[in-house]
Amino acid sequence: MNFAVAPLAALALCAFAQLAVAQAPPASTPAADQSAAAAPDGKALFRTKTCIACHGRDGAKAIQNYPNLAGQDAKYMIAQMEDIASGARVSGPDPRGYPRTQGMKDVMHLVSKEERETIAHYLAALPAPKPAALDPPPAAERLAQGKAAYTKGGCQTCHGADGLKPLPLHPALAGMKRDYLVAQMKDMREGVRANGKSKTMLPFVKKLDDANVELIADYLSQIERPAR
Ligand code: HEC
Ligand code: HEC
Repeated sequence: MNFAVAPLAALALCAFAQLAVAQAPPASTPAADQSAAAAPDGKALFRTKTCIACHGRDGAKAIQNYPNLAGQDAKYMIAQMEDIASGARVSGPDPRGYPRTQGMKDVMHLVSKEERETIAHYLAALPAPKPAALDPPPAAERLAQGKAAYTKGGCQTCHGADGLKPLPLHPALAGMKRDYLVAQMKDMREGVRANGKSKTMLPFVKKLDDANVELIADYLSQIERPAR
């Protein structure tokens, strides 16, 4: 018979329960506050989520013909990240035959929606890099012809005079890399890039032959974007 044991066991359980309560963390642990304080900022995310490897320090020293991102419209960048991640935005092939968007698509699972927004706002607030010099440098006359073609083409309606003041959700074009500009205009003209609001641009870019695409890219790539 173990009548005597039962109350003892109950006592022991009771003591254990008290111990557990005593050791439980206080109900008011500010876990949410702590994680907010530890959330990395845009600059840290840009570095640790591999963006820096392709888009360069502070989004201003991109490799090859990849786009610089410093000073670009934040909402436009957020939309492009979504579209590249989902495959809605694709590009023509790189020299190895892969779409130029592929390398970025492969890493976009590393950043959440919130992190993409944080990075975009960090980048948008940075000064755009100085225009990259062309070799050979285009003559002043060629740049003037480029400006005329840009204006005649109606581009300023959406991208602003000299590509400096785009409509909301539209990209600034001034001072972007020449070869990147050429690639995008050709991709959009051929319907390879058809994401987002690209359709609205199609009738305008369709009127440009390769010579005019290159003329406009030379001109836009040499315009300095003042700090916003
Ligand atoms: C492996 C290289 C690579 C990595 C890593 C990468 N990108 Fe990109 N990104 C590109 C390329 C290349 C393009 C342009 C593709 C094209 O030519 O259509 C691009 C385009 C973009 C654009 C659109 C720019 C525009 O003007 O339309 C944004 C915004 C962007 N990247 C942000 C990011 C962010 C943020 C990260 C990090 C989370 C990142 N990228 C990581 C290569 C990369
Ligand atoms: C009706 C508005 C509109 C007009 C006019 C227009 N564009 Fe665009 N353009 C856009 C939109 C919208 C995008 C971005 C598409 C998207 O992904 O949502 C774009 C993107 C671009 C890009 C790619 C930028 C980047 O960062 O990837 C280039 C280059 C460009 N436009 C050049 C031109 C040129 C040159 C003209 C004149 C021939 C022109 N656009 C006329 C709306 C327009």
